[in-house]
Amino acid sequence: MNKRLGALTLVGLALAMLAGCADRKSTPLQQAQPATPPSAVAGATYVGQAQCETCHRLETSHFIHTTHSRLFASNPRNELEARGCESCHGPGSAHAQNPSSKNIIAFTREGGLPPAEQNKACLQCHTGGERMFWHGSVHEMQDLACSDCHNPMANVSATRLERGKSINDTCFSCHQDKRAEFRKRSHMPLLEGKLSCVDCHNPHGSTTDPLLRADSVNQLCYQCHAEKRGPFLWEHAPVRENCLNCHNPHGSNHDKLLVTARPFLCQQCHTSVRHPNDLLTGGNLADGNAASVRLMSRACLSCHTQIHGSNHPSGVRFHR
Ligand code: HEC
Ligand code: HEC
Ligand code: HEC
Ligand code: HEC
Ligand code: HEC
Ligand code: HEC
Ligand code: HEC
Ligand code: HEC
Ligand code: HEC
Ligand code: HEC
Repeated sequence: MNKRLGALTLVGLALAMLAGCADRKSTPLQQAQPATPPSAVAGATYVGQAQCETCHRLETSHFIHTTHSRLFASNPRNELEARGCESCHGPGSAHAQNPSSKNIIAFTREGGLPPAEQNKACLQCHTGGERMFWHGSVHEMQDLACSDCHNPMANVSATRLERGKSINDTCFSCHQDKRAEFRKRSHMPLLEGKLSCVDCHNPHGSTTDPLLRADSVNQLCYQCHAEKRGPFLWEHAPVRENCLNCHNPHGSNHDKLLVTARPFLCQQCHTSVRHPNDLLTGGNLADGNAASVRLMSRACLSCHTQIHGSNHPSGVRFHR
């Protein structure tokens, strides 16, 4: 079992589910608390979107097509939303008077405002739900800003205001090694568009390392490979323990995402079995260098076909 899977995780999950429901009932908007604007603009007052537009025509022309703009302009549900640009950038009077001053909440790295301060602006409306475990998450601890993954100023991506053209591109911008993994001979069909990083990871935080969207690796895999969940009459211990005993989650140069080639995969654990186990190089073969024909193709699996578990009354050796 995943060693992190314990009562604590279960409690965490229950809380997350409760929070998820609460979040849906009372939308993030009703939680909006304009009372604590980030410190960068203390003392300034709100001037309204029309003022910003006079100098930021280009930015505004892109912004008006986004979800935020449409909602804030057509159907603001509270005072904070009705403030348009200033709902994120904070009160702008000081900036409008003296634009070269840094007296505005800026979300760019050049702006110099610490990520935690920037994130406060977004978290005014977006706490809970998916972001239940943002605080303390790897991405938060690594000082990521919401704007490292989101650009609310324009519809760069088709959905969710991602910074990159797609979710995967957004993640690859920092996790470049992962692109290589998904290009291996055997891989999850991610570059083919059948799934994305967020099917398995929650970038906003999770109780399961590393940012998994389930309470264990196996629970994650069962979401799409339900037939591997069982229950089986004859279970194969390493399968129950962790799918990653044999598979890489992203990609592998061995077929079926296997961590190593067969028969070595099996021989790692099965060092001695009743029938010749050392079929590849053993002294049991006439020609010490030739592989037994019984190991051609799918190796041990030529006979032990039901490697994930068997429901056949005599499937104890996973032959059927
Ligand atoms: C009088 C013209 C003017 C007005 C009004 C104005 N800005 Fe600006 N803004 C500027 C200029 C010029 C810059 C570039 C400053 C620089 O780079 O030194 C700027 C920069 C910015 C930046 C980037 C800051 C950074 O450090 O990255 C943001 C964000 C911004 N403005 C938002 C707003 C908002 C929101 C409003 C309305 C409350 C607003 N501006 C009103 C002229 C204006
Ligand atoms: C939902 C929050 C949000 C709202 C509302 C918003 N902005 Fe922004 N703005 C951001 C973020 C985040 C960035 C940083 C984007 C980036 O990293 O490129 C940004 C960047 C900027 C910049 C810096 C230049 C740039 O594009 O990178 C300016 C200027 C700006 N915004 C002006 C405005 C104006 C004018 C409005 C209203 C018409 C507005 N913003 C509304 C979040 C917001
Ligand atoms: C004043 C409240 C408010 C603030 C501040 C705010 N948002 Fe939002 N945001 C909303 C609302 C309302 C929606 C649409 C309903 C929803 O998805 O919850 C939304 C939607 C989104 C979406 C989904 C967009 C889509 O097209 O599906 C993203 C991503 C997002 N916000 C990111 C941010 C980021 C990043 C910031 C800070 C730079 C931010 N928001 C600041 C209220 C806010
Ligand atoms: C490491 C990248 C990353 C960071 C950092 C990040 N997000 Fe996201 N966010 C995403 C991706 C990817 C999606 C799309 C998820 C999906 O479609 O299921 C998303 C979706 C969202 C949504 C829309 C779906 C929902 O949860 O309702 C909101 C709102 C949002 N993010 C807000 C934020 C806020 C606020 C922050 C900062 C506290 C933040 N995000 C930080 C990557 C990120
Ligand atoms: C701005 C850079 C940046 C972006 C964009 C980014 N990450 Fe990360 N991510 C990091 C850093 C830094 C770490 C911590 C160091 C590491 O493990 O590489 C990290 C760690 C992780 C981890 C490992 C967590 C752990 O507990 O070890 C996962 C999983 C992850 N990111 C997924 C994603 C996904 C999915 C996306 C896209 C939605 C994404 N990241 C986008 C910077 C980023
Ligand atoms: C099919 C599910 C799945 C998909 C899709 C997926 N991951 Fe993972 N990822 C996992 C699992 C499971 C682990 C845990 C591996 C371990 O514990 O050894 C992991 C581990 C990680 C880690 C931390 C350990 C490492 O290998 O560096 C990072 C970072 C990461 N994934 C990033 C990504 C990014 C970026 C994407 C999208 C391009 C992505 N993952 C897509 C399941 C997935
Ligand atoms: C979001 C859904 C999803 C999740 C979660 C998921 N998979 Fe997959 N998996 C797929 C899809 C789609 C395919 C491709 C199936 C096809 O093309 O017929 C696939 C294929 C595979 C293959 C066969 C690869 C090949 O070369 O034929 C293996 C092995 C596999 N997954 C293992 C895992 C493991 C282990 C996990 C958990 C870490 C996991 N999957 C989680 C969707 C998922
Ligand atoms: C003891 C090693 C081992 C473990 C542990 C294991 N697998 Fe496999 N898996 C294999 C082998 C070997 C193959 C190739 C089977 C073949 O060639 O017929 C395979 C193939 C697959 C395939 C693609 C073919 C098919 O049967 O659909 C999927 C999907 C898969 N495994 C998912 C999982 C999941 C999910 C888990 C965790 C519940 C898991 N595996 C655990 C050894 C393992
Ligand atoms: C991570 C270690 C591990 C790997 C890898 C592994 N196994 Fe196993 N296997 C076990 C354990 C543990 C048992 C249970 C042994 C027991 O109950 O005495 C088991 C049981 C079996 C059994 C039933 C044995 C019996 O006495 O009933 C067969 C057959 C088997 N494995 C075949 C394979 C094959 C074929 C592979 C390669 C695809 C493989 N195993 C990979 C650990 C592993
Ligand atoms: C030609 C078919 C065949 C091949 C190939 C094969 N096995 Fe077996 N295996 C069997 C049969 C039949 C039994 C049942 C023997 C018995 O019950 O006495 C068995 C039994 C087992 C057992 C359980 C018996 C014990 O000793 O505990 C394990 C474990 C096992 N095989 C592992 C492997 C591994 C690992 C490989 C690949 C190196 C492999 N087998 C290749 C046919 C095969």
